[in-house]
Amino acid sequence: MTGGTERPPGSRLHGRRKGKKLRAHQAELLETLLPILTLDPTKPIADAAGLFAGRPDEIWLEIGFGSGEHLIGEAEANPDCGFIGCEPFENGLAKAVALAEARKLANLRLYCGDAGLVIDALPDRTLTGAYLLYPDPWPKRRHRKRRFLSDDMLAALARVMRPGAELRFATDIDDNGGWTLARVLRSRDFIWRAATAEDWRQPWTGWSSTRYEAKALAAGRKPVYLTFVRK
Ligand SMILES: C[S@@+](CC[C@H](N)C(=O)[O-])C[C@H]1O[C@@H](n2cnc3c(N)ncnc32)[C@H](O)[C@@H]1O
Repeated sequence: MTGGTERPPGSRLHGRRKGKKLRAHQAELLETLLPILTLDPTKPIADAAGLFAGRPDEIWLEIGFGSGEHLIGEAEANPDCGFIGCEPFENGLAKAVALAEARKLANLRLYCGDAGLVIDALPDRTLTGAYLLYPDPWPKRRHRKRRFLSDDMLAALARVMRPGAELRFATDIDDNGGWTLARVLRSRDFIWRAATAEDWRQPWTGWSSTRYEAKALAAGRKPVYLTFVRK
């Protein structure tokens, strides 16, 4: 498992990796269950369906799942699909592993680190969809280059997403919504299909809300939900 706070040159990880001390059971699960659930993105993944016992036809990726509320909710609601979740913050990862254990999920793979490494390791046209929910907004101008969905990252995602696959993006930060939309609209690989305001004001059907969404709503901020489709 990747841990610590050191950042190798060129790393996309800028936030904290560790928080308060883990509960004993969470720490134990990181030693026992995480090695079973984890994947290794340091080598190309030749057979993505083979990561899962049931060889699912559909595989979804969640980038920065936080404490895993959405990822675990989706995995539970869609047992025939495979879900890969990436999160470098160990405390969030530990909560997701505990939820996976409690719900006995067999369709989940987790990586404690940069989602970009997992994307680079996946074969072409693997994903049916990807989620980027409330990514770190990096509001200061000089930090915007840290935002996850750069032009290069969109191209990397385009390679691993199947034609018709959805990239679902949510944010409560106006500037981040517009910034992301500008990059998608100039990409040759994705289109934004929204026809009416309702298409981006409402979350997706069956949506499992996240911790950051709850914070945004409690603070009176209205999120946007953007669905981009791989051409
Ligand atoms: C603002 S939080 C949102 C968490 C969760 N999606 C939610 O809505 O509650 C952003 C998360 O992205 C994670 N993150 C940042 N850079 C990442 C990267 N390169 N790969 C994967 N996750 C990343 C952070 O650790 C953090 O947990």
